[in-house]
Amino acid sequence: MKKYILGLLLSGTCLFSGCYYDVESELYPKDPNQTCDTLNVGYQARIEPIIKSNCVACHTGSGAGGNVSLDSYQGVRDATINRNLYGAVSHTSNKPMPQGGNKLPDCDINAIKKWIDNGHPQ
Ligand code: HEC
Repeated sequence: MKKYILGLLLSGTCLFSGCYYDVESELYPKDPNQTCDTLNVGYQARIEPIIKSNCVACHTGSGAGGNVSLDSYQGVRDATINRNLYGAVSHTSNKPMPQGGNKLPDCDINAIKKWIDNGHPQ
């Protein structure tokens, strides 16, 4: 009887939170068909579009936020090296970005991390 109740409790947890092992991206993290592509993280194909739609508005020209210019490959690359860009987008630094906006989707944050780890491919 005790085992029965425990079983019920466990399956209940699954029902309400979604079973961990049902999450496809956890099961097949390297599946090339998964929706979050962190395999191909070249600047032009993957990183620039993220920065353009979320960051450039405040980070270009002479009035760039924090004097961080993100309108070129060089600028974004330098910001990851000198200005903790990853800390900003992952909200682990004290200057979370986009400032005043929503955190980027995990997929984009992971792609940025991969791009940095891979040595900033163009
Ligand atoms: C609404 C305007 C705005 C947006 C959008 C924005 N930023 Fe910023 N950003 C700022 C301002 C202003 C600062 C300077 C903040 C300060 O020094 O307190 C800043 C600072 C930074 C810094 C320097 C942080 C540091 O620790 O010195 C980085 C890196 C950065 N932003 C990256 C980004 C990235 C990447 C995005 C897009 C995901 C983004 N920002 C979006 C306004 C913005």
